[in-house]
Amino acid sequence: MNLKQQAAQKALTFVQSGMTLGLGSGSTTAYFVDMLGESIQQGRLTHIKGVPTSTATAEQARAIGIPLIPLSKHPNLDLAVDGADEVDPHFNLIKGLGRALLREKIVEIHAQRFVIIIDESKLVTTLGQRGPLPLELVKFEYEVQIDWLNTLGCRAELWLEDDGTPAITDNGNYLVRCWFGNAIPDAYVLADTLARRPGIVEHGLFLDMADTVIVAGSDQVSVLEHPKGAK
Ligand code: A5P
Repeated sequence: MNLKQQAAQKALTFVQSGMTLGLGSGSTTAYFVDMLGESIQQGRLTHIKGVPTSTATAEQARAIGIPLIPLSKHPNLDLAVDGADEVDPHFNLIKGLGRALLREKIVEIHAQRFVIIIDESKLVTTLGQRGPLPLELVKFEYEVQIDWLNTLGCRAELWLEDDGTPAITDNGNYLVRCWFGNAIPDAYVLADTLARRPGIVEHGLFLDMADTVIVAGSDQVSVLEHPKGAK
């Protein structure tokens, strides 16, 4: 099993029959969704319902037999499980390099317990250290947003596909990636600044959301609990 699979397998031990789960997006979560589907098929878990955070996860979950419901039917999720691009020592995250940050955030704020599954390469001392911060923005006059983002101490670029066309999210929006060099100086200030900007739909800073981080390393799989405990 690779490290992502090991983290996903550990997350499965948090799932109990009857739970309603937020199902994240990305390659690590895809392993979790597969393992969850297998457990349902084999009858080890029953009466599970899932709320997917992307069309890709919805398709995968349906194909493997995980019953899906809209968030409105069960807005109090027992658990949400998702990957992350960066995790800092305070359990703050950068997410969205799998392009699903908006739906992820919409769903995951409803989780009683939000479990992050990563391999150890995602651990950072300061967010922004490892890669870009992704943002979702409306298409209308998007160039002006990119110019503005470039005044915030980062290099911001429209996210393009290999063929040079803009990447489009499940919500029909564009994505921008912002490179901050070494680190984001103050993620809370940045999150607040971005949240106030019309046209920027959502950003990939997931602050004060994660309760548990499962880190798969070459030696062991560690389960880290936020000192404040689960919500
Ligand atoms: C999806 O939009 C993301 O938030 C993913 O959770 C994140 O990019 C981690 O993805 P991997 O599990 O593929 O590394």
